[in-house]
Amino acid sequence: MEAGEPSPCFSRASYEERCLLMIDIHSHILPGLDDGAASMEEAVAMARFALAGGIRCMVATPHVKKGKYDNDREKIVDAMASLRKVLLKKEIRLFVMPGAEYSLEPDLPQRFSRGELLTINNKGRHLLVELPAEFVPDYTATVLYDLQLQGVTPIIVHPERNAVFTRDHSRFYELVARGALAQITAGSLGGLFGRTSDAAARAFLEQGCAHFIASDAHASTGRIQYMETAIKEAVNLLGNEAGMKVAKENPQRVVQGEHIEAGEIKKRQSSRNGLFHFFRKNANRA
Ligand SMILES: [Fe+2]
Repeated sequence: MEAGEPSPCFSRASYEERCLLMIDIHSHILPGLDDGAASMEEAVAMARFALAGGIRCMVATPHVKKGKYDNDREKIVDAMASLRKVLLKKEIRLFVMPGAEYSLEPDLPQRFSRGELLTINNKGRHLLVELPAEFVPDYTATVLYDLQLQGVTPIIVHPERNAVFTRDHSRFYELVARGALAQITAGSLGGLFGRTSDAAARAFLEQGCAHFIASDAHASTGRIQYMETAIKEAVNLLGNEAGMKVAKENPQRVVQGEHIEAGEIKKRQSSRNGLFHFFRKNANRA
């Protein structure tokens, strides 16, 4: 390890385990665009921590929210190019790809049709969408559906941190049954956001309603280090095949703009969150 390099905060993982951690589809590594990395130095530190944990590729997904984070495509792509240049110069071999995390706003479909939105790795297929933490807007299903009509699949980020979804899982499952995908934040499985989020994250994975695990890292400390344990936890919960899908295969496919096989929402007889009977098998997704 070079002088000045942060010591890896991960246990010594086997080669196979490290391979699970190759792609992180949600991060705030671009400096100065949102509440993520505050400087290029911090972004570089994040890249080093990610590599130390076995992450080889990170999709840079700064917040985009009208009036708060007005990041357009050009701004994000320029910031990514600057970061890539610095990483290259420092011989830090983390590959950074473009993306964004869009606040759910009613005109997202119109903005997409005008070519204003940045999909994951600019492939035009998958879009990260963030709902408010406390409620689910009335227009949610319509906006997600109108995006899908244009051939883009919305990925709902950290549903386990939404107060409505955690209280009533069926509200979330409805959106997944209609074709949305979902991403769990690694720290949720480690209790970083409390017991409710932890329990919801596990339930969503077990029900087949969560398709990715990502760091949603905002700094070099605090979130990236949860990736390793979260992925192991997913494999424990789901078994090797389904766990690998969430941990490795789906992220690989999404950055290549490929179709994600969502699988089925498993029927559940009862839950403390109420009865629900969604059963969707291999719903076709854009
Ligand atoms: Fe985020």
